[in-house]
Amino acid sequence: MIALASDHGGLALKNDIKLLLDETGFSYKDFGTDTDASCDYATFAVPAARAVARGDFERGILFCGTGAGMNYTANKIAGIRCVVCSDCYTAILSRVHNDANMLALGGRVVGFGLARTIVKLWLETEFSGDERHKRRIAQVSALDSR
Ligand code: RB5
Repeated sequence: MIALASDHGGLALKNDIKLLLDETGFSYKDFGTDTDASCDYATFAVPAARAVARGDFERGILFCGTGAGMNYTANKIAGIRCVVCSDCYTAILSRVHNDANMLALGGRVVGFGLARTIVKLWLETEFSGDERHKRRIAQVSALDSR
């Protein structure tokens, strides 16, 4: 189950990715927004990120104009490892090396076709589980409570 959220800048891309998830059999919950009206990304990023951090969802995908606002908001939530991504290499390596549990996409940066490929790669790719990557993730996770 995937948590989704966007602001107005990411709404159109989110709606296209929902079609992709429907086509590929992924279930999801959309935490909003659902209109083109200007809104604040944190309003929607925080509930989605908290739900992923609690373990209610395996992963989450966030959308705004650039991905930046959604990304830094999500990374304020303990347990979230969110990555902004606009290329396939980062989509794969953010899973293999970073075990990213949230992906942030810029609806004004990536086209629908590239975004679909990024999402497919990111959802399909597993964390390597290598000790060096676990160690590095643990070092960063230890900062959550400080
Ligand atoms: C909204 O205009 C825009 O600032 C927002 O979607 C996002 O790009 C922020 O990081």
